[in-house]
Amino acid sequence: MRTQIAAANWKMNCTLQQAEDLLNKLSAVTDFNTSNKIAVIAVPAPYLLLAKQKLAHQANMFVAAQNCYIKNYGAYTGEISAEMLQSMGISYVLIGHSERREYFNENNAMLAEKINIALEYEVTPIFCCGESLAIREADNQNEFVAQQLKDALFHLSAAKIVKVVIAYEPIWAIGTGKTASSAQAQEMHQHIRKTLEIQYGSAVADVVSVLYGGSVKGNNAVEIFSQPDVDGGLVGGASLIAEEFVTIMNALK
Ligand code: 13P
Repeated sequence: MRTQIAAANWKMNCTLQQAEDLLNKLSAVTDFNTSNKIAVIAVPAPYLLLAKQKLAHQANMFVAAQNCYIKNYGAYTGEISAEMLQSMGISYVLIGHSERREYFNENNAMLAEKINIALEYEVTPIFCCGESLAIREADNQNEFVAQQLKDALFHLSAAKIVKVVIAYEPIWAIGTGKTASSAQAQEMHQHIRKTLEIQYGSAVADVVSVLYGGSVKGNNAVEIFSQPDVDGGLVGGASLIAEEFVTIMNALK
């Protein structure tokens, strides 16, 4: 069975004290120890080491960065390298979140480079894709998402792409309280898997975890995650409330 993943994306939220409080609550969780389920917590960069320390005893909880840069090191003020993440023991990084694409002009060509450098330093990329409302209304979402995958991921070998996690996050569902229906999520996830299969074959397509993101909450996670091609979620707002995120973790298949 594919790894089922409850991923939290705190985005640019939490003071140090709030982060500590949230991490203490996750650190106190005692019943999340099954072989195929993990939680991945993408915290703001200043809290990466704190999160690592707080969750060190949690065998199934991992810490993620929300971004990394395309270079190893050098005069790139404000940026974070995959090598730094590796040196801190950070095992996941979000790549290509729609907010990075929109506010920081990240395009698929740049994201392909970020994917390469994350893999080079053995930091698992969680690659985000998903269409805007206008694209959905024009019924072009399948072509659009397939193109995102092709441009940012399909230069990878089969051995490399199985190390990537994909997160489908329709932009119209992010932070809007409007989730894709479970049928819409399943349809797109199946399409993503089919697109992987055409490029790499079914053995590869069957093992890549594809997460759904966009207004996942404690009260809709079970239904969304129960879809056969949905392998968990990438959660924004609801991940800032520990009890709510734990409910979402427990909704994994
Ligand atoms: P919300 O869960 O707040 O809609 O955010 C989703 C998201 O962007 C996660 O990366």
